[in-house]
Amino acid sequence: MNKGIAIYPGSFDPPTNGHLDLIQRGSSIFEELVVAILRNSEKSPMFSLAERLEMLRELTADLPNVRIDTFGGLMVEYAKSIDAMCVLRGIRAVSDYEYELQMALMNRKLEPSLETVFMMPALKYSYVSSRLVREVAQAAGPVQELVPEAVEQKLRAKLDPAYKLQGEREPEAPKRRKKK
Ligand code: PNS
Repeated sequence: MNKGIAIYPGSFDPPTNGHLDLIQRGSSIFEELVVAILRNSEKSPMFSLAERLEMLRELTADLPNVRIDTFGGLMVEYAKSIDAMCVLRGIRAVSDYEYELQMALMNRKLEPSLETVFMMPALKYSYVSSRLVREVAQAAGPVQELVPEAVEQKLRAKLDPAYKLQGEREPEAPKRRKKK
C-alpha cells in the first residue's frame, strides 16, 4: 500500500470551516488526501451530491494534493480501491469520541491494515457541525463564521425566503375598527 494516501470520508452537508481546517491540516501531513463524500446516505441531504462535490472542489482548489471524490458502500472497500493507508477523521470534543471510536474499531475489524488517524480542528471550530449550520441557516440565522463564503452563498440561495425575512420588521397587527 502507498503510505502517502489518506481518505477523509464524510457527508459534508454542507462543508464547514471545521472540515476545511481539517482538510488543510491533513493535506500538510499526507502525500495525498482524498476527501470522499458518501453517496446513498440514509439521511436526505440539504445539498445534492453534485453540489457538495462542486463546493468541495472549489474550496480546495488551492491544495494540489487534495482530491475530491464520492463513494458508496463500505468506506474500507473504497479506501482499498484507492490504495489509502489511513482514514482521517476529526474529533472536536469528547462527545465525538464514542462514535468515532466505534466507527474506527468497526473499520479496523473490516480492514485491519487501514489505520484511523484523528485530528483536532482549531478550537474556534470545535462547536461547528453541518447539522447545526443547517439548523441556524434554516432559521435565517448568521452562518458567516461557520462556513466558507461560497457555502454561505449557496445556503442563502437555497433558503432565500428565510434570508429575505431577516432584518424585516414584524408585520403590524391589524388595527381594530372602532365600534360605532
Ligand atoms: O460526516 P459523517 O456523516 O459523520 O460521516 C460518516 C461516514 C460517511 C464516514 C460513515 O458513515 C461511513 O464511512 N459510511 C460508509 C459505510 C461504512 O463503511 N460503514 C461502516 C463503518 S462504521
